[in-house]
Amino acid sequence: MSHTVSGSETVKYVLGERDIPTHWINLMPDLPGEAPPPLHPGTQQPAGPDDLSPIFPMSLILQEVSADPEVEIPEPVRDAYRLWRPTPLYRARRLERALDTPAHIYYKYEGVSPAGSHKPNTAVAQAYENAAAGVRKLSTETGAGQWGSALAFACQLFGLQCEVWMVGSSYDQKPYRRSMMQAWGATVHRSPSDVTAAGRAQAEHPTGSLGIAISEAVEVAAQNADTNYSLGSVLNHVLLHQTIMGQEAIAQLEMAGEYPDTVIACVGGGSNFGGLTIPFLRRTLREGAATRFIAAEPAACPTLTKGVYAYDFGDTVGLTPLMPMYTLGHGFVPPPVHAGGLRYHGDSPLVCGLVRAGLVEPRAYRQNDTFAAAVQFARTESIIPAPEPAHAIRATIDEALAAREAGEERVLLFGLCGHGNFDLSAYDAYLAGGLEDPEFSQADLDAALAALPEAPSL
Ligand SMILES: Cc1ncc(COP(=O)(O)O)c(C=O)c1O
Repeated sequence: MSHTVSGSETVKYVLGERDIPTHWINLMPDLPGEAPPPLHPGTQQPAGPDDLSPIFPMSLILQEVSADPEVEIPEPVRDAYRLWRPTPLYRARRLERALDTPAHIYYKYEGVSPAGSHKPNTAVAQAYENAAAGVRKLSTETGAGQWGSALAFACQLFGLQCEVWMVGSSYDQKPYRRSMMQAWGATVHRSPSDVTAAGRAQAEHPTGSLGIAISEAVEVAAQNADTNYSLGSVLNHVLLHQTIMGQEAIAQLEMAGEYPDTVIACVGGGSNFGGLTIPFLRRTLREGAATRFIAAEPAACPTLTKGVYAYDFGDTVGLTPLMPMYTLGHGFVPPPVHAGGLRYHGDSPLVCGLVRAGLVEPRAYRQNDTFAAAVQFARTESIIPAPEPAHAIRATIDEALAAREAGEERVLLFGLCGHGNFDLSAYDAYLAGGLEDPEFSQADLDAALAALPEAPSL
């Protein structure tokens, strides 16, 4: 496919504050077929708004189940977005030259947010809605520490307290993420902790997992009337808030006179992937735009590529609704790879539905191959990427090399959803040549299947 090339050597496409979108995009009404509903963990009947109200404010529950194609962004949230949005779109000209590829590579850079990733896009929206509902404290889990720091920052903006359960392995690898959360006023526990029943029950998994940390945070929110729980990914309303990224990217690519052939993003719980791709996916669904969508995940936690599509719990202990998703089993504790934000046994039901419908191609990458791509990127484009988006960089470099092989000028867009300035111990380990490279095994898969809860089949 040939594309108009912008005449200049522009590197950064920058929008003004007035261009911050006024609405988020909800893909639900455009999806082909009925989405299977989440189920109440006890009754196995569809979970309704009342089932979620002990831990979420009604305004977010209504966004979760909304059938409106667009949801207006409240003005105080747009105002908070002005602190770092719009984020830049870069053309990776130096990487293109290093790869000697005819592909045009663009990346949407979310590392300019105060917390250094895409996570504040939903954190400020969630903190605002909880504060407006009279809630005093938010509890949450964090993997890499990115989400915890985003929520700590957002709670500070809207006058809420914040309590974070940080996955044990990340807590040890990233002490400065903890400092950051504390600087913004949050209380941080190493998970599994001894302050919750869920944590005490999981003491035999000292490196922790997102599933365990979620159980701890949900338990505290369910038991305290003034405390709500806040989830940094997976749920529809979180993906909704993140669509601000894809909308800006469309406007910025228009400035460059281009439209992507392929959109690539990493997937932990799916909000980064959904946020970048949904505005493009809607064009594909409505207008038939021929775009490929690639979801990049770690080989050590290959939910979309090796998981089974079934109802499963979102957390380890089994407190959350049963969700229709690809899962490695709620009891699966992924090995402590450095991409802490991608160590989740399940994925967003919306993203899983898109994979199942064949609209999204999932791909798994090994840790050393991923870091090789991250280092190549850092040495050409200069930004040191977080280990999570390094998976998307790996996929992008592979696609750019495929374009060179085919002699085609393909347009690639990927999400650089965070910088890696707090992940340098991971770079140290990689550069010392000492990274383990665990891969999910058949035995792991068999164990996952055996541990699935009794639930209607999908
Ligand atoms: C830098 C970074 N990128 C990506 C992810 C995964 O995000 P998502 O859950 O939105 O897929 C995380 C999660 O913590 C992260 O910290």
